Amino acid sequence: MAVRAGIIGTGGISRAHVRGYRNNGVTVTALMDVNREAAEAMAVDIEGAKVFDTYGELLDSGQIDVLSICTPPVAHEEPAVMALERDIHVLLEKPMAHTTASGRHILDAAAKSSAVITIGFRHRYLPAVQKLRELITNGTLGEIVLYQNAFTGPAFRMKDRWFSKKAISGGGSLMDTSIHSVDIFRYLLGEVAEQRALTARHMDGIDVEDASMLLVKNPAGAVGCLMASWVAGVGQSFIDVTGQDGRALFDYGQGDQVKLQRRGEKEWETIAVRPSDGFDEEIDGFLKAIRGEEGMLVTAQDGFRALEVIQNCYQ
Ligand SMILES: NC(=O)c1ccc[n+]([C@@H]2O[C@H](COP(=O)([O-])OP(=O)(O)OC[C@H]3O[C@@H](n4cnc5c(N)ncnc54)[C@H](O)[C@@H]3O)[C@@H](O)[C@H]2O)c1
Repeated sequence: MAVRAGIIGTGGISRAHVRGYRNNGVTVTALMDVNREAAEAMAVDIEGAKVFDTYGELLDSGQIDVLSICTPPVAHEEPAVMALERDIHVLLEKPMAHTTASGRHILDAAAKSSAVITIGFRHRYLPAVQKLRELITNGTLGEIVLYQNAFTGPAFRMKDRWFSKKAISGGGSLMDTSIHSVDIFRYLLGEVAEQRALTARHMDGIDVEDASMLLVKNPAGAVGCLMASWVAGVGQSFIDVTGQDGRALFDYGQGDQVKLQRRGEKEWETIAVRPSDGFDEEIDGFLKAIRGEEGMLVTAQDGFRALEVIQNCYQ
């Protein structure tokens, strides 16, 4: 039987979930948003999708098997816990929650549920990130020494939106953006054993940082610098891994290739990869985990650990 999906929070990123479900043969049947007009606007484009007024009505409708939660972080816990209590599978957008206490409640509910839960760390699924992981694990780069990852650029209207309100978002560029970087670092190089962060605020009238640099170290001694900013005038998005035997670079602006420079070589090799934003693969992995075909690449524990690293920086 076809899998049926519900979506709570029908704003910007939920559109990528709808596309991912469609591309994986899943029917989106149920929508809910505190702004009912937003859900109704989305329903216009999805044949047969019904709009609900509350989490409970949507979850108890009998119309969904899986749920995407695409609300702002402060509104992650309630629908996630309610879905898990009903054994409905959950794809929960990052960050897992706005605080570690809230994230812990979701972890506890996940432990009691038979449902699959994953957190929206879509970068793990990018073929380019998979290629970097292969170059690291198969020893091509040798022992990893240095790591840099940036996601910066002019972000759209952050000042007027929930992103810049700490009580809703849980934090600024570290929480919103570098949490992806923490997860990518953990996926490529292992646990964050140490961290230090510097933050800054350039925009007036907001109560979160809009630029940050997070230094991390893995247990083997690889040190990384994770940069994020919403106000940099020129965008940079890259992952740069340097080992004792070579260096690999993925520039998101050139999504179809990873560059490799071997020790002693001046020239870079170009390794072709399939461009992707990771959403189709994330949902494919979610469905496979639900069918018991493979384990979830991103677990609730991964979501919680990334949240913890960011919260440690704020503390
Ligand atoms: N994986 C990614 O790359 C990625 C990218 C962007 C955003 N996100 C995450 O997705 C989530 C949503 O971000 P967005 O950019 O789509 O935000 P958005 O503001 O565009 O959309 C959020 C939607 O949730 C609705 N909403 C707010 N509170 C609600 C509640 N209590 N119950 C139901 N609906 C509610 C809003 O009305 C809005 O329609 C955030 O957690 C964000 O960090 C992830």
